[in-house]
Amino acid sequence: MQPQQYSIIVLISGRGSNLKALISQARHYKIQAVLSNNPAAAGLEHAKNAGISTLAFSRAEGEKLSHFKARIRDEICNLTPKLVVLAGYMQIVEPELIESMQGRVINIHPSLLPAYPGLHTHERVLADGATRHGCTVHFVDKGVDTGPIIAQAAVDVLPTDNPDTLAERVLACEHRIYPWVINRIAQGSIKLEGGTVSIEASARFEATQLGFILPALQD
Ligand code: GRF
Repeated sequence: MQPQQYSIIVLISGRGSNLKALISQARHYKIQAVLSNNPAAAGLEHAKNAGISTLAFSRAEGEKLSHFKARIRDEICNLTPKLVVLAGYMQIVEPELIESMQGRVINIHPSLLPAYPGLHTHERVLADGATRHGCTVHFVDKGVDTGPIIAQAAVDVLPTDNPDTLAERVLACEHRIYPWVINRIAQGSIKLEGGTVSIEASARFEATQLGFILPALQD
């Protein structure tokens, strides 16, 4: 790998459809490795098929969760990526990793945060009768689904929707917005400065063209 390339690592736990989108839409970043806390994660195959190194961690019997997480953290730190990308990673990232990466950990969440943090977002949206839903890409802080928001994509909730149909439309948005954000971070057009998201004019313009929402720039 050329030293000047913007290297990212992707953390997954499951099917890895976002990882697949990140692989196929990589323009300004290079996926250095894919890590999983679940050796059975189907998404690892996408990395292998693309010739990307994979590291799958199993929690040993009786191993404390803190020890397991520390092993994963050590490996991430050894790889010295520019950005850590959570893509369906079902484990809370330790504060030590957030600190050592200095605001260079991002996540995608299937709701329009701050609405519906946590799990089962599609079911909860439908149960509430909400009319709008979507996904959010955000910098990760020490909370759960609470860090500074970079960009969102919204969909209308249809009267005929069930959790699967809604999830499918939201996922299609995820597959567009996550690679876009990461390409723009790699280009230096999106940054976290003093806890605030800054986005260059060209990226703002492009986001609007693509139908993305940039909450940090709205009054
Ligand atoms: C996505 O909905 C993502 O927003 C959430 O977990 C899901 C992962 O899906 N964090 P996939 O493994 O990328 O297909």
